[in-house]
Amino acid sequence: MTPNVTDMLPYAEASRDSGADSITISNTLNGISIDTRTRKSNLGRPSAGLSGAAILPAVLYHIWRVHKAMKDYPIIGCGGIWDADSAIQHILAGATAIQLGTGLFMNPKLPLEVQQGLQDYLASQGEASLDAIRGTYEYC
Ligand SMILES: Cc1cc2nc3c(=O)[nH]c(=O)nc-3n(C[C@H](O)[C@H](O)[C@H](O)COP(=O)(O)O)c2cc1C
Repeated sequence: MTPNVTDMLPYAEASRDSGADSITISNTLNGISIDTRTRKSNLGRPSAGLSGAAILPAVLYHIWRVHKAMKDYPIIGCGGIWDADSAIQHILAGATAIQLGTGLFMNPKLPLEVQQGLQDYLASQGEASLDAIRGTYEYC
């Protein structure tokens, strides 16, 4: 799903109603970067997709918003995962599984670190499985 919408819920519902078994939240955010000297794009094209750590809060919002309304619909969380903590945040917001993108370019060992970090987190919280913590984000 594209994150370039105010509310992803209608799109997630349409996805489910069309027969998709799950959805990935999300793709990249639209962005531009301007060379102030030339006033032209730094990207080789007018705009491009923003990924990585900067998009984590926006992606978490969309995951939380959809999971809250569609509890049984599996969400693959993708966007801004660069360590175990950001992966855990995806699960707490409601993701069933996670996907690594830009973080892999920075750190090829990221999958191993995230896997270990998830296990350490569950142990430190006294929880038996990811199911026990999924969607348990409380905002107050
Ligand atoms: C170099 C690059 C290429 C990508 N190509 C695709 C693509 O072909 N199709 C797609 O749906 N998303 C594509 N994406 C988006 C990623 O799958 C992912 O949704 C996005 O980068 C956010 O995750 P991240 O912050 O972990 O990178 C691409 C991202 C990057 C950085």
